[in-house]
Amino acid sequence: MGKIKRKIIGIRKLINYWNYLYYVKNKPIVSDYEYDQAIKELILLENLRPDLITSESPTQKINVNIKNFHNSIHHISPMLSFNSIYNYSDLINFDNKIRNIFKINRVVYCCEPKIDGVAVSILYKNGKLKYAVTRGNGYIGENITNNIVTISSIPLSIKNNITKIPSLLEIRGEVFLIRNNKSNLLNERNNVAGALRKSNLDISGKKLLGFYCYSANILSKELFFDYHYNLLQHLKLYNIPINKYISCFTDTKDIIKYYNNMYKKKSLLNFNTDGIVVKINSFAMQKKLGVTNKVHKWAVAYKFPSHEKITTIKDVIYQVGRTGVITPVAKLDMINIAGANITSTSLHNFNEIKKLNIMINDTVIVSRIGDVIPKIIKVLLYKRNSNAIRIKIPSKCPVCSSATKYSFGKTKLICTGKLNCSAQFIELVKHFVSKDAVNIPGLGNKLISKLVSNNIISNLIDIFYLQEIDLIKINGINHKLAKKIIYEIKQSKKNINLPNFIYSLGINGVGIVTSILLSKFYKNINSLAVSDIKTLTQIKGIGLKIAKNIYDFFQDKNNLMIVKTLTSKDVGLKII
Ligand code: IVH
Repeated sequence: MGKIKRKIIGIRKLINYWNYLYYVKNKPIVSDYEYDQAIKELILLENLRPDLITSESPTQKINVNIKNFHNSIHHISPMLSFNSIYNYSDLINFDNKIRNIFKINRVVYCCEPKIDGVAVSILYKNGKLKYAVTRGNGYIGENITNNIVTISSIPLSIKNNITKIPSLLEIRGEVFLIRNNKSNLLNERNNVAGALRKSNLDISGKKLLGFYCYSANILSKELFFDYHYNLLQHLKLYNIPINKYISCFTDTKDIIKYYNNMYKKKSLLNFNTDGIVVKINSFAMQKKLGVTNKVHKWAVAYKFPSHEKITTIKDVIYQVGRTGVITPVAKLDMINIAGANITSTSLHNFNEIKKLNIMINDTVIVSRIGDVIPKIIKVLLYKRNSNAIRIKIPSKCPVCSSATKYSFGKTKLICTGKLNCSAQFIELVKHFVSKDAVNIPGLGNKLISKLVSNNIISNLIDIFYLQEIDLIKINGINHKLAKKIIYEIKQSKKNINLPNFIYSLGINGVGIVTSILLSKFYKNINSLAVSDIKTLTQIKGIGLKIAKNIYDFFQDKNNLMIVKTLTSKDVGLKII
């Protein structure tokens, strides 16, 4: 079998399985993004082998088995989907295509938020809610009437004095989880579907669910509408919930404005939305365009930029921190998520690598939500091949070759080299000169690395013996700059508050807040240095672990010598 054919068969199997989990079990295991990418890949492969395209391919039809439904109902007309677009030029192409088909200059589009939830169809007979059914495989869905009737915004009967009630009305829409300000559930569909399939929704469950109707069919034909927008407005008279952000436009530029505006508003809305839906407003035109086995041709989903991207791990490097913790960092093929170029991401620790089952050369999904640091959320195992390389847990520090060991309750690997490890020492110097510590802004990260690697600084005391002549040896430092740095170092010695000095020592777990607590209790550095663990733990806010770290720090002769020398006449740090 050819390589392409094998790939096509593999991806179809996978997508069919995902479809089954999504449409039948209501338990998706992949994000929309991962699903869309797989469909895109399958389309590309099928374009290479058009002879293999059959009507059964998931690019043509959603093939799912509905045997699992407790109680199934046939849809009056199939519940189909629509294609997705991702950028302005896709939108222009869609508009051009429609205008060419109809040979007209402008088309009225109805734009709506694409609501992220579960599609349902609800039938009203003589104004009474008769049944509600999920989409299922598009042709047959599951009867969920018992749960739908508990959603307070869905009317059980539609009454109206002004206008006629159709004797048979089908409405379709999305059930969603009502969001409060904080919760932003990652897999909305999972939660909604879970709630809908429960045999009995409790009150807390009911309060969580909302519904917006996005289409309707007056099967009994007492009323007739030419336009989608007008039909939706009419349904409001029956108290059927219609989303308030629905507007019509003819110009694609205005659609973009609407799209950008909805994207900006997204986090403030009480429903989750992953894009907008652009629908042709005229029912006559919709009908002419028609459907495929899978989609309506008269609408597209214009998706918001995803906070997920697929990339590959080129390599894994190890960073050694101030406290010796070795952090594995993945080097990635560059991706751009929401404007940020991403080339690497922390893998946190070796347990995380194990948990996610990550190997070098793997294809992975990286997620970055808002300004949060990007994170690998998943390995696409089905893409793993023979070039995958296991990530080794280093037995030696990659910087100083000292032995490594597990620490911090076996969660973290550390280098045992302490300050003999140049990486740990460089990080300590960075910490020591930082703003909340001794505050020497001229000593930047790059300069510190060079001073350490050229053996100009090998302990904290050396900083205060630096001379202009040492600094100008370093590339990029001229006389003027060297003078400025030496001046800053001198200034830094003048008045250092005790909490800042305690903090500057870089004792494990002792941040600025703990340093303030310690300085209030001990008043000077010498009494802190001779304190025992018991006394330390008597301070409110200091636990046994930190007390032990402090005690151990001052038991170390070298540390004690450094502290004594820094505050001695020779160096002259003035602690106040
Ligand atoms: S119209 C009747 N409008 O998106 C034509 N669908 O992949 C098709 N969806 O499962 C539906 N918001 O449940 C329409 N404003 C909206 C929508 C919307 C969300 C869902 C729908 C369907 C999926 C399409």
